[in-house]
Amino acid sequence: MTITQIDILTLFPESIGRLMGESIIGRAQKKGAIAIRTHQIRDFTLNKQKQVDDYPYGGGHGLIMQADPLYRCWEHVVHTHGAGRTVYLSPQGRVFNQAEARRLLTFPRLILVCGHYEGIDERFIEECVDEEISIGDYVITGGELAACVVADAVCRMVPGVLADEAGFTGESHWDGLLEYPQYSRPEVWHGRAVPEILLSGHHANIDKWRKEQSLERTRRKRPDLLE
Ligand SMILES: C[S@@+](CC[C@H](N)C(=O)[O-])C[C@H]1O[C@@H](n2cnc3c(N)ncnc32)[C@H](O)[C@@H]1O
Repeated sequence: MTITQIDILTLFPESIGRLMGESIIGRAQKKGAIAIRTHQIRDFTLNKQKQVDDYPYGGGHGLIMQADPLYRCWEHVVHTHGAGRTVYLSPQGRVFNQAEARRLLTFPRLILVCGHYEGIDERFIEECVDEEISIGDYVITGGELAACVVADAVCRMVPGVLADEAGFTGESHWDGLLEYPQYSRPEVWHGRAVPEILLSGHHANIDKWRKEQSLERTRRKRPDLLE
């Protein structure tokens, strides 16, 4: 089974729309290979001011996104489009990588929840969230960039999104290695020539060279991947 739909709960749907509406992922949506929908959490408040946040119980700085608007938004998505694996983007989650992207690809639908301010009320996490995912051990302002990172990494593996599967199976991190160096025209640029082997037309030798390069640069740049 492969994912076909992603719903993103956010206070900033426009910024997600801009990032996901262009280039490869944008075209994939237009041709129906994948549907990415955004939902404005603010539209699910019950107060006139459309307030979605409040002070933390127990004191402390900043504001917390309240559970109720998040819950109403999530419930609307589930009722309208069906249940999905609900993921809260959080610096406290499992760290995202290519293997995690491949795992998420196997769910038919994802619901991505973006926090903001100082985070979200714990009770929403307890009640609705299946798992938390972090894009790295640092803190960013909101979950929107993280949701786009996750959605993009997952969507590009959906059949029909890239021209062919080799577009992602040959890339860095697919098999635990980094990709070999790539070159395009011209043959010589700023006095730097393309490695001769790539101009030889001998595909078996080119494959062998690329495998060696892949291993060498993984050893040099990311020895931890080989351990
Ligand atoms: C300023 S952060 C809140 C951090 C929270 N107070 C903590 O210390 O765990 C606001 C929002 O940004 C998102 N966020 C921040 N860092 C992230 C990361 N490394 N990965 C995924 N989402 C992140 C989350 O959605 C979070 O709710």
